[in-house]
Amino acid sequence: MDRYGDALVLGVDTMDNEHRQLAALFVEFAAAMKKEDAHQRAKAIVEKALALTNEHFEHEEELMVQTAYPAIEDEKFHHRNLRLKLTTLVGDALNNGVSDPVTMRNLGVMQKLLFAHIDGPDRQLANYLIARGSA
Ligand SMILES: [Fe+2]
Ligand SMILES: [Fe+2]
Repeated sequence: MDRYGDALVLGVDTMDNEHRQLAALFVEFAAAMKKEDAHQRAKAIVEKALALTNEHFEHEEELMVQTAYPAIEDEKFHHRNLRLKLTTLVGDALNNGVSDPVTMRNLGVMQKLLFAHIDGPDRQLANYLIARGSA
């Protein structure tokens, strides 16, 4: 699985802190899989990840409103699509068991989607905030 690293740091602390927390949950999930009560632990982590993602998107959307970000509708569109995909994948993971091999692969898919979002639309937002002195 890819790792969250310096390349994904955007320079806006509020965004970076939440991205770091989200990325850490993937590592936590992988570690939980090795424990005896893996299913319960992993299930709790997946649910926490979904809740955190939703909160994070709300925070970014508030930030965009406050700073009159021109591409707000695009970023909201990305968030909504990402939320749909993640919700579907999480539902699938919970239905099929967190130790199922397909679930494990889907976890990698989720992480890639999230990292691509950070590296793309979020980076644009961060650069806008930095240029405007709002970071
Ligand atoms: Fe983000
Ligand atoms: Fe975002």
